[in-house]
Amino acid sequence: MPSTFELCLEAELNDDEPIECDGPNGELIAVVRHQGKVYAVAGECPHQAAPMADAEVADGKITCCLHFWTWSLADGTPVEEAEEPLPMFPVVVENGKVLLQIAD
Ligand code: FES
Repeated sequence: MPSTFELCLEAELNDDEPIECDGPNGELIAVVRHQGKVYAVAGECPHQAAPMADAEVADGKITCCLHFWTWSLADGTPVEEAEEPLPMFPVVVENGKVLLQIAD
C-alpha cells in the first residue's frame, strides 16, 4: 500500500480553480477539482514555469495562463500548443483530505 502526503483539504478547493500546494519535498503541486474529481499536476508549467495555480480548467483540460499550452487533465498529455507532457501525480480524497500517493 502506498504511503500518502496531505496536500490540502478538499474544502479549500473551488471547482475548476487550481490552488498551489507544497509537495513532500518542497516542490510545488497544483491541485484542482474538476467535474467531481480531484487532480494534482506540476505546480510550475513545463514550458517557462508559470504557476499552474493560475491555469484555466475546463472541459477536461488545463491551460497555462501564459502561453496557453493545454493538456488533458486525465493524463497530462498535450492537447493544444503543448510540446511536452504535464507531470501529474496520483491523489485520493479521504476524510476530506487530498492525499498524494507516494510509491514505496
Ligand atoms: S509558461 Fe506555460 S505555456 Fe509558457
